[in-house]
Amino acid sequence: MTYNPSRRLFLGGSLAASAAGATGIITPAGLAAQPMKTPQIMYGPTPGIAKLNANENPYGPSDMALKAIAEASRSGGAYYAYRAGMYLRDMLAESNGLKPENVSITAGSSLILAFAAFAATSKGKILGPDLFWDTTSKAPISQGGPEIVRVPNTADLDIDLDALYNAIDDEIAMVHVCNPNNPTGKLLDPKKLREFCIKASKKTMVLVDEAYNELIEDGPKHSMIPLINEGHNIIVARTFSKIYGLAGMRVGYMLGSEENMAFINKFGLGGYSINQAGLAAAIASYNDEAFKDFSRQKVKEGRDIILDAVKANGLTALPSTTNFVFVNLGDDGDANAFRQAMEQQDVLIRGQYRTYQQWSRVSTGRIEDVKKYAAAMPKALEQMYKLKA
Ligand SMILES: Cc1ncc(COP(=O)(O)O)c(C=O)c1O
Repeated sequence: MTYNPSRRLFLGGSLAASAAGATGIITPAGLAAQPMKTPQIMYGPTPGIAKLNANENPYGPSDMALKAIAEASRSGGAYYAYRAGMYLRDMLAESNGLKPENVSITAGSSLILAFAAFAATSKGKILGPDLFWDTTSKAPISQGGPEIVRVPNTADLDIDLDALYNAIDDEIAMVHVCNPNNPTGKLLDPKKLREFCIKASKKTMVLVDEAYNELIEDGPKHSMIPLINEGHNIIVARTFSKIYGLAGMRVGYMLGSEENMAFINKFGLGGYSINQAGLAAAIASYNDEAFKDFSRQKVKEGRDIILDAVKANGLTALPSTTNFVFVNLGDDGDANAFRQAMEQQDVLIRGQYRTYQQWSRVSTGRIEDVKKYAAAMPKALEQMYKLKA
């Protein structure tokens, strides 16, 4: 049979999604449940669709990253990316005051986070809040691993650090905290988180997922990376998928003690997952302060438009510090019905999380797309009540 790429590309969304399920391809959380409109194009979102469902930065890759991608693909695409991987590893180690052995790079942080989850569940259970980005810590469950031990969030949907600490027993092999948290967008008090990490890490390994750290104001003040240097049993995950606008280029990393990194790396072949183009983009973007400032500005603009629309429609939202907003649709709200109603107006957002039926997450995205969300809101709310009735 001759190779016919167009046939594969134009497979319908639901067929593609079920094929992905059948082959075990991991799709970003919630996206498989949202069929893409046909005809599909090869790379980015379908033109005319406001894609606000996966917290990407659509203003990336930066110009410098694009140049590096072209150069790396031209001169290195034929070769394994070993040298570029070592270069980025050294760069990340040096900028965080760590050694190369403290850094592990994979194709997106999901992979190394999943390795950490498999490593932890080989010893015991994972402890986390009721509401957090749990995709990777849930991964071992499909292999017969234990369910996540969950602690309720506070009434304000914050992570309850005291309750988490009190829930650590001999069975817990890892505590998973995401800061800022996804989907709430809320940030923990850095002093309290630091105290928690120090205390909790005496009992078990503590994972802090800082995927959105660079998007917040004063990111370094909120990072737990210095605790690794101080010798605490803490691992921190970071990604190039968010502020750097490289979600499709797949580069993420984890920092931790040499022992923790060696233990976690045993559960995957991270080095073989990295690619020249992604590494080149990451290396070119890491210190691109102008692009990061520009991206933070766009996120703020987008967030203000969302918050104004929320208010104008008589709703409220959690005070987000990052590139998505968790909107309270009210007591009669239904995040899945709202998502469906938004999709009818070509706006893609997230559906319901766990039991949180009235909460709906929307990413900041392109300003014109956020404006489309704001304009679609009154009709989508009306539609949501109809769908629910
Ligand atoms: C909190 C958090 N961590 C990690 C990830 C995974 O990102 P990636 O695998 O693209 O690095 C995401 C994706 O949305 C996320 O929200």
